[in-house]
Amino acid sequence: MAAAGITRIFPDLTEDLLLNLFHKGAQAQWTSRSLDWSTPLQLSARQRLALARLLTPVYFGEQTAMAGASSILPSVMAAGEATAQLYLASFIMDEARHFETLTKLYRTLGHDPLGIRDMPELLRYYHRLRQGDRVDWVWGILISDIIGKHFYRELGPKQATPDPLFAGLTTRILKDESRHLAFAEHYLKRNLPALVPERRRVMIEMRDELLRLLESMTEKVRGDALAFGVEIEDFLQGVAAELEGISARVGLLDRNGRPPGAVGPRGENIRRRWFLAREEPQPAAELASTDDSLVARCFGCLLSLICSQRLATT
Ligand SMILES: [Fe+2]
Ligand SMILES: [Fe+2]
Repeated sequence: MAAAGITRIFPDLTEDLLLNLFHKGAQAQWTSRSLDWSTPLQLSARQRLALARLLTPVYFGEQTAMAGASSILPSVMAAGEATAQLYLASFIMDEARHFETLTKLYRTLGHDPLGIRDMPELLRYYHRLRQGDRVDWVWGILISDIIGKHFYRELGPKQATPDPLFAGLTTRILKDESRHLAFAEHYLKRNLPALVPERRRVMIEMRDELLRLLESMTEKVRGDALAFGVEIEDFLQGVAAELEGISARVGLLDRNGRPPGAVGPRGENIRRRWFLAREEPQPAAELASTDDSLVARCFGCLLSLICSQRLATT
């Protein structure tokens, strides 16, 4: 007997941008084996350690994006967004290869990522990404992709004398990330008009919270960024500036830089507001006990705990 309410099984595969991005992604396959690992790293001992520490949030993000997309896919399916489903399948593959390639890079660097106790904000950051519905998830992914993009650019191709292996790796990842950004912007432009102003206000708060957590995380690797000649402030400003532009383009802000429907003074510049409103650090003892209850046997177990939470449906 047919399930109640289902009248047809043929999906709406319209020729839209998401279908194009799916084709592009499916045709542009690569893995870590496509890179020439016999090329010796041209990084100093200090830079190898610095890169391992700096990569930590991005590495965590690659695995979380892969797991998060797989858990969001059924709700995209339930919403009848057929081309977004296909696109997400290619997105999962992209993030899987980023995660696998960075794992191999860590082995080559000879260092491990920072631990959760060194950077407890990681848990808060990715826990925040799990709040809300599929639109919030795409917004969080967009923010994370912009952070990743600036990170890879600064340490890869933008270096005066880029390391050939790392630059080759980042160039490939950046190509994939540009598809992710195109997807997220398109998806949000399509879905935001249907959201009530309150939802958009929450999304702005989410952006600011994630940026404050990023600021706190990057403060811990300030010296490591300097090993590559990168000032943390320049990196953060670059991320914030790009996010400000996208927030306006997708319809999160009105002409005055405020969420639509908001009243009160003209919206402040995100860079200014974010740097002024720093988050109060949590007491170390409190964080340690939270981590102890959350930390499973390994990083993957911990991620699966975070990602197994059910998302809200819309
Ligand atoms: Fe990625
Ligand atoms: Fe991505």
